[in-house]
Amino acid sequence: MFVKRHLISTREFSKEEIDYILSRAEELEVYARGNGKEGKGRKSDLLKGKILANLFYEPSTRTRFSFETAMKRLGGEVINLSSIEASSVAKGENLADTIRTVSGYCDVIVLRHPREGASRMAASFSSVPVINAGDGAGQHPTQTLLDLYTIKREGLLDDLRIALIGDLKYGRTVHSLAYALSLYHAKLFFVSPEALKMPEEIKLDLKEAGAEVFESTDIKDVIKEVNVLYVTRIQKERFPDPAEYSKVAGTYRIDTDLIKENEDVMIMHPLPKVDEIDAAVDGTKNARYFLQTFYGVPVRMAVLSILLGE
Ligand code: NCD
Repeated sequence: MFVKRHLISTREFSKEEIDYILSRAEELEVYARGNGKEGKGRKSDLLKGKILANLFYEPSTRTRFSFETAMKRLGGEVINLSSIEASSVAKGENLADTIRTVSGYCDVIVLRHPREGASRMAASFSSVPVINAGDGAGQHPTQTLLDLYTIKREGLLDDLRIALIGDLKYGRTVHSLAYALSLYHAKLFFVSPEALKMPEEIKLDLKEAGAEVFESTDIKDVIKEVNVLYVTRIQKERFPDPAEYSKVAGTYRIDTDLIKENEDVMIMHPLPKVDEIDAAVDGTKNARYFLQTFYGVPVRMAVLSILLGE
């Protein structure tokens, strides 16, 4: 049923396709746990003989490692562009030529690039599937899938009232997530400093899709209305002018006092976090962001096995 060749944007998903990926992730989760007690020592060679190429032109910890772990836990192999400086990119090679070359060495490419639209462009030059692992301020679809998986595993996907907090202007995770959530009839609360609001064109698309959207600049306005807080980092590296960054830096922070106003609220974050979540929140039952990062493995296993035709 899932016939997409590339995975570029959550705008291209139907609800059925997302549901299928999430249910496949649930089946594969046992392998994601590896040889530990919970994994029961089960191993898989579903992707034996397949090679994934990680091409990261921007920093990454979770996305790159969890793709690598997902591939290896399913018996596949991974090649990595270890650094831009060590590759022909440093000699001036353009992205199209790199993709034409690397797609001859592997079965799937995972690409992170600072330029919006880079993955779509790369896909047009690739002989193998391209997965967008973040294109500038554009999209980050596999992050969204693991976000949805986390929400589903907590049983909240059917009555979701979620606040997307922070840098909604440059944050690709929230762009991807908002589109996907419009398929689930979630109530969306956008909370950001005035200068970092969700782009108008995305809000328009969401409204056209029938989504219920509320906006605010203060978390306190919405804390009692929601069951999930999805917090994001201010994307410092995307600001054209450092002075503009200084104006918004440190303007919002989630702390334990805020949680007291809604003791059951689940707190998510794509990570890395900088100062937007007080460290005391990490140890609360509300914080789910480290579990969320683990779910990157089963979800990326599902994506890879589906794109590679199992
Ligand atoms: C995010 C990203 O790269 O967009 N990180 C991630 O993949 N988990 C969020 C961020 O960098 O703030």
